[in-house]
Amino acid sequence: MYKILFVCLGNICRSPSAENIMRYLVEKEGLSDQISCDSAGIIDYHIGKPPDPRMIEAAKARGIQLTGKARQFHASNFENYDLILAMDRDNYWDLVSLDPKRKYRHKIQMICDYAKNYRDTEVPDPYYGGEEGFNHVINLLLDACGGLLEEIKAKSITT
Ligand code: 4NP
Repeated sequence: MYKILFVCLGNICRSPSAENIMRYLVEKEGLSDQISCDSAGIIDYHIGKPPDPRMIEAAKARGIQLTGKARQFHASNFENYDLILAMDRDNYWDLVSLDPKRKYRHKIQMICDYAKNYRDTEVPDPYYGGEEGFNHVINLLLDACGGLLEEIKAKSITT
């Protein structure tokens, strides 16, 4: 099993979206027995909460159901996942700083590096903005997760 972990700040908007979008795409390709998806947040503020209702609404409009409960990233997660994808640069550097010996540095990447159509280099935090910010997160993540899945399939790193 190739294990992917998506990380954002609060684990109630972007990373649960990425987790559920990737799982949706993986299921569509019939690869659920080879690729697993999970998510976590840098901060502990929203632990136990379901995804933000505004995020749930935006995902639902694209036919994707958001599930899960927020949890905080822990350094022990580095060992248990094959790929850890940050939503923005702050998340990326927070993850890097939790790996001071650089043992897991190769596992930490930016999700937007896999986007094919969008030129965003980060998934913008929609939390304090309006509806279109949430829609943009879904569209961008559909693009980036699609690109990620293609790359995983092309490299056959699941086998
Ligand atoms: P997320 O969005 O990192 O995409 O889950 C946020 C959620 C909560 C906060 C910030 C961003 N917050 O400051 O509480």
